[in-house]
Amino acid sequence: MGDLLSLFPAGSTVDADGGLLVAGCRATDLAAEFETPVLVVSESVVRARAKDSVTEFAARWPRSRVVFASKAFPCTAVQRVMTEEGVGLDVAGGGEIVTALKAGADPALLVLHGNAKTDAEIALAVEHGIGLVVVDNSDDVDRLEATVPPGRRQDVLVRVIPGVTAETHASVLTGHEGSKFGLAPAAAAELIKRIKRSPRLRMRGLHVHVGSQILDVAPFAASVPAVAALGQYEIYDLGGGLGARYTYDDHPPSVGEYFDALVRAARAHLPAAAQLIIEPGRSMVAGAACTLYRIVTVKRGLRTFVAVDGGMGDNLEVALFGQRFEAGLADRIDATGGELVTLVGRHCESGDVLIDGVALRDPRVDDVVAVPVTGAYCFTMSNNYNGNRRIPVVFVRGGRARLVVRRETWDELLLRDVD
Ligand SMILES: Cc1ncc(COP(=O)(O)O)c(C=O)c1O
Repeated sequence: MGDLLSLFPAGSTVDADGGLLVAGCRATDLAAEFETPVLVVSESVVRARAKDSVTEFAARWPRSRVVFASKAFPCTAVQRVMTEEGVGLDVAGGGEIVTALKAGADPALLVLHGNAKTDAEIALAVEHGIGLVVVDNSDDVDRLEATVPPGRRQDVLVRVIPGVTAETHASVLTGHEGSKFGLAPAAAAELIKRIKRSPRLRMRGLHVHVGSQILDVAPFAASVPAVAALGQYEIYDLGGGLGARYTYDDHPPSVGEYFDALVRAARAHLPAAAQLIIEPGRSMVAGAACTLYRIVTVKRGLRTFVAVDGGMGDNLEVALFGQRFEAGLADRIDATGGELVTLVGRHCESGDVLIDGVALRDPRVDDVVAVPVTGAYCFTMSNNYNGNRRIPVVFVRGGRARLVVRRETWDELLLRDVD
């Protein structure tokens, strides 16, 4: 068994009684005050990661920009922290534009993505002066040309498929040949010619993204020559994808190693005066959070099932990608040994398993279970399955806790049923 505490947000500690403290807040107190399940985020960890990313990238490539892939955690409080720390925002669609604007982001620092942007989303982007629209297909160009008013030009990047197959789950692979995202180089070259002729668009550069939860720097570096082959531009957006450490066996590259690899490839293949953008999502927020649940029942038989009051309603990473998580009991987080159990959720699916095989010592009804590394893609994919009320988000910092997203109410579950 590894060091469970090391998976919780940096600065997490164990008190004299063996209880977990996140940013100085006792996990069991947070569970009592905000009820469970609750997503607990260390604000300082998010800020530090954002700040370090900007500084470390700029130290290696001064004309650089970090934009947070909002999709990983698109609540206004997180987007606001990123904005305050000098990080721009990648927004995938209208909803993330709306939350980013509410968070106070400068529209000029937003980068709009989407393989199927609608008329309404393009109109929203143009209306608010979104800095860069990443063109994924020729219909994006049709829509932009029909929307951008005369006398104005929308800055665009063109998304290119680099033909790089990274080692990760197939569902989060995007840079391989045949991907639904972006254009193969020959098709990209054709569309670029059209954009360059357009009176409504300004061709600023290229975009590439190889996938998510990538634990090796080689695929990122390999994507650079693929975009370089399409010509010299002012901007190269090299996407996101750096993996996070979910389990004891995960060893993702450090931010420094990741930037070293990107910048080495950029020096070899891209114009020295170009601006580089990166769009990390998962690696910026995953390890900054944990989810607290309460045990509802312990059932012993062929296997021991420990069932909690959440599950696939607040964490779809397991069902969608088979992501492995770890867990511990919040009031005895440093307990070793224990029974190997299957940690399951409360939803009506056998696939609603949070962890298939985790050691918990003497788990009992009402104990608080803490699952680390839930900061990425959990909040954003939370859902109302089985009438689940989406869970709250609490920021913790210096021993103080602050609710930033409240729990959904029963009334809200009924709000959209109009007949
Ligand atoms: C275009 C684009 N940029 C950035 C990201 C962020 O990826 P990650 O959260 O793995 O860093 C994604 C997500 O897959 C994406 O599709």
